[in-house]
Amino acid sequence: PAEDVVELDFSMQRPRHLLSPAFLSFTIDANLATDPRFLTFLGSSKLRTLARGLSPAYLRFGGTKTDFLIFDPKKEPTFEERSYWQHQVNQDICTSGSIPSDVEKRLQLEWPFQEELILREQYQGKFKNSTYSRSSVDMLYTFANCSGLDLIFGLNALLRTSDLHWNNSNARLLLDYCSSKGYQMSWELGNEPNSFLKKSGVYIDGFQLGTDFIELRKLLGKSTFKKAKLYGPDISQLRGKSYNLLRSFLKAGGGVLDAVTWHHYYLDGRIATKEDFLNPDVLDTFILNAEKVFQIVKETRPGKKVWLGETSSAYGGGAPSLSNTFAAGFMWLDKLGLSARMGIEVVMRQVLFGAGNYQLVDKNFEPLPDYWLSLLFKKLVGTKVLMANVQGPDKNKLRIYLHCANIDHPRYKEGDLTLYVLNLHNVTQHLKLPYYLFNKEVDKYLIKPSGPDGLLSKSVQLNGQILKMVDDHTLPALTEKTLRPGRSLGLPPFSYGFFVIKNAKVAVCV
Ligand SMILES: *[C@@H]1O[C@H](CO)[C@@H](O)[C@H](O)[C@H]1NC(C)=O
Ligand SMILES: *[C@@H]1O[C@H](CO)[C@@H](O)[C@H](O)[C@H]1NC(C)=O
Ligand SMILES: *[C@@H]1O[C@H](CO)[C@@H](O)[C@H](O)[C@H]1NC(C)=O
Repeated sequence: PAEDVVELDFSMQRPRHLLSPAFLSFTIDANLATDPRFLTFLGSSKLRTLARGLSPAYLRFGGTKTDFLIFDPKKEPTFEERSYWQHQVNQDICTSGSIPSDVEKRLQLEWPFQEELILREQYQGKFKNSTYSRSSVDMLYTFANCSGLDLIFGLNALLRTSDLHWNNSNARLLLDYCSSKGYQMSWELGNEPNSFLKKSGVYIDGFQLGTDFIELRKLLGKSTFKKAKLYGPDISQLRGKSYNLLRSFLKAGGGVLDAVTWHHYYLDGRIATKEDFLNPDVLDTFILNAEKVFQIVKETRPGKKVWLGETSSAYGGGAPSLSNTFAAGFMWLDKLGLSARMGIEVVMRQVLFGAGNYQLVDKNFEPLPDYWLSLLFKKLVGTKVLMANVQGPDKNKLRIYLHCANIDHPRYKEGDLTLYVLNLHNVTQHLKLPYYLFNKEVDKYLIKPSGPDGLLSKSVQLNGQILKMVDDHTLPALTEKTLRPGRSLGLPPFSYGFFVIKNAKVAVCV
């Protein structure tokens, strides 16, 4: 049978980059609050168990709807939200009850209609304002806090005065409420300002948006959020005019940011194909986009951190029957690898749960393939980024990334290495470690699809074992397969996995 043997070359003199422990983070789209009844989903103990598995992480609440949501402190909670709060019996909300089951059933029954409405708004590009209550804010905050996540809340930037300055009066109401509750969170202002004109008929230039961010920073300074972080401008579609907007925004307001955020999608979800998802040239398009952002940041605000503030495989809610399958993992794992190698400190995956096809967790709170991939990444991959290379033809079909291992994992210690690899060849690849690591024991974590749907499966196996939750409160053990020293690291066609090299004693990982 055709098989390739490839030699790996590691460069480990010094870490190339140091990532945030929350490097792999994720989002809840603000469109879940279009009808705040559906925020009650965040009371699910199963969803919280899954979210907690990925802690430490940021939870970004944002998206197009950010600029169409208005806080109404006088609004009463919805029936569903009220039922949830009444169901909480203990003092400690985090260990209290889940959503009452009749409420959960009804919301799930109605969800397909709500999802359709959300996606229709998105396709048509016409958005309605909606209001949310104090209860909605509590729901979101409680979900984040009880799951060990740091909440980032996107404020509405399209509330404007007649001369197009940001009108901060609604933001002040929200800040006051969050202060009164002792919430600790960080902030954004607006989503994808480069398409404000298209979404709302209002054009806001970079200078004005920068000025608005400075005003928000002042407002935070006068509240209990003095030390809170501020991220932005959550720009997307990086070409032509968006670059100019980013540049002028950063010149005007970049000084008050804790990180510069941008958004990235490879494809339009409505036309993306399976071949696109497996195409290394598509994966490589990420590099040019990221380089351009780094270049603008270097010119305007040298040294500022760069984050991917929202990202997934395909925009428009993801690609049906692709973005939620094993095949999506190639884009996700490769994006994590390239981002780390290029020094992007945090990557926020769109979305944990909600409308569309690119979720980590489906509407029945069942984890999808990218959830399991994220969980493995979180447990195995450390924050120090090293460099690995392969030689040979078609080398962009075998994509390899090297970090120090995550020593929070009980099996691993300082000096260990984690290699993660994607094989886009249609033949097995055998990786040979550099000679000085040849006699090391290696733990393999190989992920393959499970069931008849092949690459389009929504279920995966780790080292041959199907991954599923033990119960609503328990994630399964992620069990390694230990390879004898000297064995080559085999990776079947169209698969991906992690290899932890134990006892590697690599100096920069100590
Ligand atoms: C949303 O509300 C704001 C403030 O009242 C208003 O300026 C804006 O035009 C409204 N947007 C839509 C789409 O109705
Ligand atoms: C800002 O918005 C509030 C609430 O809609 C409104 O009462 C106020 O007049 C606005 N301020 C300006 C300067 O437009
Ligand atoms: C967040 O959660 C922690 C631990 O569960 C708790 O001690 C803390 O009081 C919570 N913070 C807020 C502001 O609710």
